[in-house]
This record gives sequence, C-alpha cells and structure tokens, in this order.
Amino acid sequence: MTGGYGKSGPDILHDCTIAVDKGEIAVIVGPNGAGKSTAMKAVFGMLDLREGHVRLDGEDISRLSPQARVAKGMGFVPQNNNIFTSMTVEENLEMGAFIRTDDISGTMNQVYDLFPILREKRRQAAGELSGGQRQQVAVGRALMTKPKVLMLDEPTAGVSPIVMDELFDRIIEVSRTGIPILMVEQNARQALEIADKGYVMVQGRNAYTGTGKELLADPEVRKSFLGG
Ligand SMILES: Nc1ncnc2c1ncn2[C@@H]1O[C@H](COP(=O)(O)OP(=O)(O)O)[C@@H](O)[C@H]1O
Ligand SMILES: [Mg+2]
Repeated sequence: MTGGYGKSGPDILHDCTIAVDKGEIAVIVGPNGAGKSTAMKAVFGMLDLREGHVRLDGEDISRLSPQARVAKGMGFVPQNNNIFTSMTVEENLEMGAFIRTDDISGTMNQVYDLFPILREKRRQAAGELSGGQRQQVAVGRALMTKPKVLMLDEPTAGVSPIVMDELFDRIIEVSRTGIPILMVEQNARQALEIADKGYVMVQGRNAYTGTGKELLADPEVRKSFLGG
C-alpha cells in the first residue's frame, strides 16, 4: 500500500505490506508516527490508496467503503474513540451488530462468555468502565458482526501489565475460535511473543518482517525496537 490522507496529502505509507493468514495472529510494531494506524485505516478503507491493493480471501476489495468491508467480514477496533461512552455496554454490542438481520443473542452470549465482566456491567454506561474493560467492549463490539478477520489497533493501550496479559489471553482465545487477528501493539516484546507473524514498520515502510520468534531474536530489532 502507498498512500496518505486526503486528495493531496503526502504519502504516509510507502509500499507497505501487511497481511494475516487463517489461524494466525499477526502483529505490527514500530515507533510512534511510523504509520501503523494509517496502515490499519488503509486496510479498512478509511483512506484512498495511491498504489497497491487490499484483498480479503483473495478478493480485491480496494475500492469498497469501510461499511462494505464490514459486510464482507472485516472487524476493526480503531485506536481511539472505539466505544460509545454514553451508551450502555449492551447497547454498544447491539450497535456492533448493526449490519445483521438475524438473531444476535448467541453472539452476544459468546462475547459475554469471553469477557464475563461485561455481562455483569451490561446495563452500565460504557464510559464508566475502566480502561481495560472499555477495550473489552470495543473488541466485543467488533466481534458482534461475526468477522472473518479481526483488526485491533493498540488494544492494550493505557492498561496495567496485568490487564494487558489478560487481554492478550482473550485475544489468543478469539484467534483459536478461527478468527485471524491483525494487531498493532506498542507492547512490542509481549505482542511478538504471541505473534505467528510480525512486522516492524518505520516511516511508513516495512523495516523487518518475520515470525514473532525471529524478530524477538534479531539483534537489530532488539537493539532498535525492543530496548536491547
Ligand atoms: N487524520 C490524519 N490526517 C493527516 N495526517 C495524519 C492523520 N493521522 C495521522 N497522520 C499522520 O500520519 C503519520 C503516521 O501516523 P500514525 O499512522 O497515527 O502512526 P502510528 O500509529 O504508527 O503512531 C504521522 O505523521 C501523522 O501525523
Ligand atoms: Mg497508532
């Protein structure tokens, strides 16, 4: 993907490639401002690519709107403003299912089984929840469409290390249900530990690509991006 914001904004992404295969967790790490969120937004159709393609199950979806991509099976949790704070937890989940016309109660129960605290707090305004609980609402909301692929931009931002570990465990659990996960993470070391595939992005380009293990063992990656 090559592209930037608006009609004439500078390119932020330069021939950047990210992908996730069935059964995998793929993780994108890199410094602030590298273009990680921009790459996720590009995959979701929130900016126009100047070059490159987005494919889902082999189908070129580069020209589809974000709404159409959701209908095709993309679930996306953006980095910011990813819940409706004045709505209840349950209303957030219902909003997540907006494209569905079938019975959503089974999926809602699955989300509540995955995140039991949300069942307890389902009548509470989502804005009253802790940071980690809000992230659970955001992930749960995305799961309500029964996505084919789940994209998460910094799902553990601003939470304690314990809550981070818990969220990672839940993310692994989601991936085991057969939903591939493409995730941006600032907790690079921990995220690469659970990654089948990892990308280090720098200035809108792929700097390093490998399995999570390979990247964790790479001296250059360690020195520059993992604190030694
Ligand atoms: N909505 C936007 N409009 C214009 N430029 C943006 C916008 N969002 C991000 N940028 C710019 O894109 C670059 C990459 O930002 P971002 O993708 O958010 O990086 P990261 O997620 O890796 O921290 C930065 O220079 C940032 O200023
Ligand atoms: Mg970002």
